[in-house]
Amino acid sequence: MSRDVQQQLESAYVMHTFGRAPVEFVGGHGMTLVDDEGREYLDFLAGIGVCCLGHGHPALTAALHDQTDRLLHVSNYFYIEHRGEVAALLSKLANDDMAGARAVADAVVAGDADAVQAAAKPAEDEQTWQTFFANSGAEANEGSMKLARLYAQRVGNGGNTIACLRGGFHGRTLETIAATMQDWLQDSFKPLPGGFVACTPNDVDELRSIFDRLGSEICAVMVEPIQGESGVHPLTPEFMRAAAELVHGVGGLLIADEVQTGIFRTGKPFAFQTLGVEPDIMSLAKGIAGGVPCGACVAKRAVADVFRPGDHGSTFGGSCLAMAAASAVLCELVRGRYDEHAAEVGSYLAERLARVPHVVDVRGAGLMVGCDLDEAAGDAHDVVSAMLGRSFVINATGAHTLRFLPPLICGREHVDALVAALAQVLA
Ligand SMILES: Cc1ncc(COP(=O)(O)O)c(C=O)c1O
Repeated sequence: MSRDVQQQLESAYVMHTFGRAPVEFVGGHGMTLVDDEGREYLDFLAGIGVCCLGHGHPALTAALHDQTDRLLHVSNYFYIEHRGEVAALLSKLANDDMAGARAVADAVVAGDADAVQAAAKPAEDEQTWQTFFANSGAEANEGSMKLARLYAQRVGNGGNTIACLRGGFHGRTLETIAATMQDWLQDSFKPLPGGFVACTPNDVDELRSIFDRLGSEICAVMVEPIQGESGVHPLTPEFMRAAAELVHGVGGLLIADEVQTGIFRTGKPFAFQTLGVEPDIMSLAKGIAGGVPCGACVAKRAVADVFRPGDHGSTFGGSCLAMAAASAVLCELVRGRYDEHAAEVGSYLAERLARVPHVVDVRGAGLMVGCDLDEAAGDAHDVVSAMLGRSFVINATGAHTLRFLPPLICGREHVDALVAALAQVLA
């Protein structure tokens, strides 16, 4: 069907929650997207940080074909292939144990069940992390917040308030917009669920004063290590350290929302590892299954243990299809050392962007990069449109901020092409 017909149908029958660009994508390979007229675009958005292996990656495609041929879904009442190995990989990665993750990934790819069992077995003194599988980032955060409140009730400080950061973004459900401290996202949907308090990012004094006032009423602090939707604003290690110390000081938990920063994007498996501060719970989604909907709430064993059958659930979470995809994606990322690749190409991207006229500030880590434009550059959304006209898919998070979240397979040659086109558009 032609693009015009698609546009008419969508405009008549699909709710208008997104302003869409006038392009219809019908295919893709690697860093490239292909539209309905056969025109090729370089993708520096990756479906908002989702398609971490790019488009049509053979390992992911093969895993999906194999799974769809056999079984799509049976529910969480039964054991299935892949769910356990994905959770084991996440546990190894949360411990920054790349060698351990590699051993599991190699065994999974070899199809050697005994080797998987041996590699996934935790060492005597190893901390394990357990996972609840959901379908999206918002759902992963719902799981993380429910777990933190349940922990407080059953074994913790009895508090129920969650401290969140202004400018953060945690999803679109009512609970996650209550945690998203941005008026424009909250105002039309009040009353919102209670039990949240706002702090300015990187303001240790304000955070301290919140704890002085509320103390053990606070059961958790929830932060994005790098705020993505509000324009790629990293937290400082000092603030992360203070958040962990203060919340642990009252018997509460630190939650890292790694929905956008996680899964190798920032040069480490998870961004908290770049800040040197370990959370008790983290939320994942986006890249975890390379484009198949999947979310995850991952928690240290001692915390995860408070969830009992009936406390939380999902019909679709951890489905056969999502787990086959997540297993293929994680094995590929681990075996290909995409953490190192993202760090290397990401710093090249940041360094090249900083040299482009009208770019005034470049922020981020690995292949999660944002930059501000000066006034003379005009509206960033117009820059995004002009770049689309030149066959580059990029994104604006505000009137003066561009964001780049390319697939993690992005190479220097793609960065060179992007920066050359951007320099022309901005000139
Ligand atoms: C940090 C963060 N948390 C949560 C979400 C919500 O994820 P989803 O749209 O999959 O519900 C997003 C989405 O952009 C995000 O960036």
